[in-house]
Amino acid sequence: MTWSTLLLLAGVGQTVLAAQDTFQSQCQNFPSKIHLRDVTVNFAQYIPAGTNLSLADAPPSCGEAYQAVSADVCRVAMAVATSNSSEITLEAWFPRDYNGRFLSTGNGGLSGCIQYYDIAYTSGMGFATVGANNGHNGTSGEPFFHHPEVIEDFAYRSVHTGVVVGKELTKLFYAQGFNKSYYLGCSTGGRQGFKSIQQFPEDFDGVVAGAPAFSFIGLLSWSARFYTITGNANSSTFLTSAQWTAVHNEILRQCDDLDGAKDGILEDPDLCHPIIETLICQPGSNHTTCLTGQQAETVRQVLSPLYDENGQLLYPRMQPGAEESDASIFYAGTDFPYSTDWFRYVVYNDTTWDPATFSVKDAAAALAQNPFNIQTWDGDLSRFRATGGKVLTYHGLEDQLISSENSKRYYGHVASTMNLAPSQLDEFYRFFTISGMSHCSGGSGAHLIGNQQDNEADTDPQDNVLTALVRWVEEGIAPETIRGTSATSPKYYRRHCRYPKRNAYVGPGPYTDETAWRCV
Ligand SMILES: *[C@@H]1O[C@H](CO)[C@@H](O)[C@H](O)[C@H]1NC(C)=O
Ligand SMILES: *[C@@H]1O[C@H](CO)[C@@H](O)[C@H](O)[C@H]1NC(C)=O
Ligand SMILES: *[C@@H]1O[C@H](CO)[C@@H](O)[C@H](O)[C@H]1NC(C)=O
Ligand SMILES: *[C@@H]1O[C@H](CO)[C@@H](O)[C@H](O)[C@H]1NC(C)=O
Ligand SMILES: *[C@@H]1O[C@H](CO)[C@@H](O)[C@H](O)[C@H]1NC(C)=O
Ligand SMILES: *[C@@H]1O[C@H](CO)[C@@H](O)[C@H](O)[C@H]1NC(C)=O
Ligand SMILES: *[C@@H]1O[C@H](CO)[C@@H](O)[C@H](O)[C@H]1NC(C)=O
Repeated sequence: MTWSTLLLLAGVGQTVLAAQDTFQSQCQNFPSKIHLRDVTVNFAQYIPAGTNLSLADAPPSCGEAYQAVSADVCRVAMAVATSNSSEITLEAWFPRDYNGRFLSTGNGGLSGCIQYYDIAYTSGMGFATVGANNGHNGTSGEPFFHHPEVIEDFAYRSVHTGVVVGKELTKLFYAQGFNKSYYLGCSTGGRQGFKSIQQFPEDFDGVVAGAPAFSFIGLLSWSARFYTITGNANSSTFLTSAQWTAVHNEILRQCDDLDGAKDGILEDPDLCHPIIETLICQPGSNHTTCLTGQQAETVRQVLSPLYDENGQLLYPRMQPGAEESDASIFYAGTDFPYSTDWFRYVVYNDTTWDPATFSVKDAAAALAQNPFNIQTWDGDLSRFRATGGKVLTYHGLEDQLISSENSKRYYGHVASTMNLAPSQLDEFYRFFTISGMSHCSGGSGAHLIGNQQDNEADTDPQDNVLTALVRWVEEGIAPETIRGTSATSPKYYRRHCRYPKRNAYVGPGPYTDETAWRCV
């Protein structure tokens, strides 16, 4: 190595060091530049790539003690007052390697938890990212008790406030500001995405809203009902997990090849209407797995929609296929905590309300309240459409917590409210059904679609819902399919169809061959 090369290297090193210093000092000095109404900065902290960040302040119930950080970021933590008796905790992460785009993350369940894994994911991709705690701390619904301002934060105000403040901060932090604004969320985060396009159509140019918890009160009532159907583990109506596995296998036996391939994955549960009475015990049956007539009736009920007293649909059926995971959730013979919390702390202000007594009368009482329109069921998206906004939504067809049939119902609701056919909806609203995907991540099929870091195969727009959305918004190239990657070894791919099309196996290759499938 020559002296001149060494000198050159030293020079480059100094430039890099100087750049780091500028970014770091800009980060450290940033709080002194923030003078926004209702905003109190707690701290700003430079985090170098590769840090395993300790989250000592995160509420224990959120289960987030550490977060791996993959890019150099400036982390800013704040409190933002939303009323004189409520506030959100908000974080903004500004990456050094900035892509010129703003993004807000969302929340899950009834929480109460900043989703650091989402913030780390999208700031690692270059987005200036915000995430808030939804107006309270932790996973319980207890903070709603006698506190409507906290419910209002949860219903819509936390995300919207975070966006308003986050956009101001992004313009303050980067001299060039930002060009486009995005949202990424799943579950309650999916509901928040739809709430945003229904109520604040200017907030985002593009929204990824997965497995949305919309028709929120219908969802909580439907979730409350399972316990009253199964009873507790000693009830004659209860099924053991071995029996649920047998039910699942029977559903696959009756329905798996409706899509043309016997691969353990249902491509369209809509086509599946299983007859579970085939499992009723008869001489020679295996008594670990066969069912009584009463248990067969339990299965029939959990796979039926929830109607109100007048026969109006409150929430569609659980789609068949999720029996094995639900054996330890909805079918476990216990109440569902989010539903119980909602009825105790919001609907009745009664901390002793007994979830075993749930009936459709309770569903009606909850629906009559619908605080701050938390239902999130407006079918008119014309204001969002007029801004040129795009929404990409997806739903796992093995979702064990939020029935994918409800996303199909909303699609129909928007189509009929706006008087638009699917080809017209395609201009701004595309819905992908993801076979073999559980609730927001995991599942038995090709479920890696980039909606979360732990559900990501790569960032190619054909494989990643977020980069697919960015390309749609910025280049006008809309995704026709979303190509999922399996988490198996060897991996395989499947192109998931845009609703109302569904996947059909046409061969001639094996089911793991993506070209052996067609959207029909
Ligand atoms: C971060 O540190 C914690 C505690 O030492 C550890 O359990 C966790 O695995 C680490 N995570 C990463 C990604 O290194
Ligand atoms: C607190 O109350 C005052 C007086 O009513 C009002 O001006 C202010 O906007 C309120 N603050 C928030 C954050 O709502
Ligand atoms: C916004 O877009 C313009 C035009 O493409 C580009 O010059 C500018 O750098 C972009 N700004 C940011 C913040 O990326
Ligand atoms: C939530 O926790 C943060 C961090 O400990 C705290 O600053 C904030 O005041 C808490 N928010 C509420 C509403 O209790
Ligand atoms: C529950 O308490 C809140 C706040 O105190 C009140 O606004 C609401 O009307 C109460 N609901 C019922 C059903 O009593
Ligand atoms: C079922 O019955 C047993 C014996 O009576 C009792 O110990 C157990 O607590 C009961 N389990 C449930 C879930 O009620
Ligand atoms: C009955 O089914 C259980 C669960 O599948 C299985 O473990 C057991 O071996 C079966 N018993 C007989 C006699 O086949």
